[in-house]
Amino acid sequence: MAKIIGLTGGIATGKSTVSKMFKEREIPVIDTDKIAKSLLNKGSEGYQEILSLFGEEVLSTDGEINRNKLASKLFSDPKVRQTINGILHPKVKEIVKREITRLESYGTEVIVVDVPLLFETDFHKTCDYTLLVYARQKDQVARLVERDQIDEAYALKKIKSQLPMSQKKQLADFVIDNSKSILETRKAFDRLLERMEIK
Ligand SMILES: Nc1ncnc2c1ncn2[C@@H]1O[C@H](COP(=O)(O)OP(=O)(O)OP(=O)(O)O)[C@@H](O)[C@H]1O
Ligand SMILES: [Mg+2]
Repeated sequence: MAKIIGLTGGIATGKSTVSKMFKEREIPVIDTDKIAKSLLNKGSEGYQEILSLFGEEVLSTDGEINRNKLASKLFSDPKVRQTINGILHPKVKEIVKREITRLESYGTEVIVVDVPLLFETDFHKTCDYTLLVYARQKDQVARLVERDQIDEAYALKKIKSQLPMSQKKQLADFVIDNSKSILETRKAFDRLLERMEIK
């Protein structure tokens, strides 16, 4: 059995940045965001269910689900959020399980699973360790605004849809601070692997 590290953080705190560091060490990362997105592709399992719920108003002109339109619904109404998550999360978990089994069959000893809602979805209970990528809220907002070209109010709405960072910090086994430069984070990452006794 491989050791499973559940990697989480807040929106735009740097999960993908830290994922990349694991991959550079040849530690495989399962990206649940990517899985969730692929489930929405035309012809995929989640597509039809989302379409029957929201109708064509969530589609782009090419017939694909418009992720921005769906996201704005998701972040505006907790009930809608619950419904969408209820459709996607069990399917994502199933795919992650299969991927872990596949990687274990190659003898992989450490597997990272990047799960934005690790604690909110109880995913942490299936992990050996949990690792939180932390950033101060002001950095989080600035990075989100810059990367996604959205306004501050919408960035805050997205951030507030998650469990507060202070609570996630208490729940996590390890915390990596990504408030400073990427170089600082990389140093902290190297120290962390030593503490976790990985490589
Ligand atoms: N230490 C840092 N200093 C400055 N910018 C950073 C730092 N770390 C990450 N960023 C930038 O902040 C943005 C968010 O980082 P990243 O994509 O790694 O976060 P994430 O947690 O994976 O986000 P999401 O929740 O959308 O998946 C990116 O544009 C990234 O380049
Ligand atoms: Mg990411």
